[in-house]
Amino acid sequence: VDNDVNSKKNYPQIVKAAELIKKNEVVAFPTETVYGLGANATSDEAVAKIFAAKGRPADNPLIVHIATFQQLKQIAVDISDTAMKLMRTFWPGPLTLIFNKKPGAVSRLVTAGLNTVAVRMPDHPLAMALIRESGHPIAAPSANKSGKPSPTTAKHVQDDLDGIVAGIVDGGPAGVGVESTVVDCTVSPPVILRPGGISKEDIEAVIGPVEEDPSIASSVSKPKSPGMKYRHYAPDAPLYLADGEQQWIQQLIDEKMAAGLKVGILAPQETASFYKADVVVPCGSKADPKSSAQTLYQALRFFENSGVDIIFSEVFPRTGVGAAIMNRLEKAASHRWMKQHMKDQD
Ligand code: TXA
Ligand code: MG
Repeated sequence: VDNDVNSKKNYPQIVKAAELIKKNEVVAFPTETVYGLGANATSDEAVAKIFAAKGRPADNPLIVHIATFQQLKQIAVDISDTAMKLMRTFWPGPLTLIFNKKPGAVSRLVTAGLNTVAVRMPDHPLAMALIRESGHPIAAPSANKSGKPSPTTAKHVQDDLDGIVAGIVDGGPAGVGVESTVVDCTVSPPVILRPGGISKEDIEAVIGPVEEDPSIASSVSKPKSPGMKYRHYAPDAPLYLADGEQQWIQQLIDEKMAAGLKVGILAPQETASFYKADVVVPCGSKADPKSSAQTLYQALRFFENSGVDIIFSEVFPRTGVGAAIMNRLEKAASHRWMKQHMKDQD
């Protein structure tokens, strides 16, 4: 992947995209997690265009992307020592921190009426160059249509938003593949609001034990992160998490196929070849959750274009970034589980 800011392809892309940001237009750009849909975070006009392009509910706040600590101090206040430790360890990187906001520093649309602001420094040379060149902090949600899986390639962005955004910076496939971890640093100890590219284990190794927002484990409680309440990451066909042995999952598939449905199955590469279904999509290796994270959204998008009526997914290991994978799959499945052993039923 050519991620050299000064290369023949990238330099003109960045200069042009930065001009568009300065003109309060909306530009999609690569980050290390997923592609973002960026606009000048200080402009109401610019930020309103993000919500319009995505069809995003106005009560769901955006992450502000910065390139320097100076920009952090311009928009956030009450930055704790614990938060400093996290930033020193994981920035630039897939970690978003929630701070009390400095009033008036970013458009009120960015924070959707909250007194807090979400901030992250992305670990991607093109994203960092775009922020620097534009001279503004950049508000950016994932660059998908609201409710769809996040885009991990420029092609995904094009499929969702072609003709709706002023430009797309192509930086090749995203490395992490799932969104950043969102951590509320306005409370002590901090609380994880969304699992993502940096794992709970990674965070605890730096600042000690942290809690997760209860809504992550159960669909019952009301999430503190407004975006977590929406059905998300979802392909068009209903998805079911199938927790059981492969023979049992194959029976589920056989029943649906016998009923005349076109059936898809998502599984790690170790077991994918076992299944006989209309569409079998392998998704990384069980032994390496990072590889599954990288291809998860591509896989969900593949189902979308394949015309399946129903999708089953194996359960992936929850270690490391696996927690984020299972969080996204549970959302895509609207928490629909099929369990072979009733005693595990929750
Ligand atoms: O990796 C990522 O985080 C990507 C890339 C583009 O940076 N961005 C991303 O943005 O995933 P988005 O908008 O799809 O998700 C942002 C999440 C939402 O769940 C939103 O509700 C939450 O962050 N959020 C934003 N501001 C917040 C705040 N002040 N308090 C609590 N949650 C907040
Ligand atoms: Mg999103």
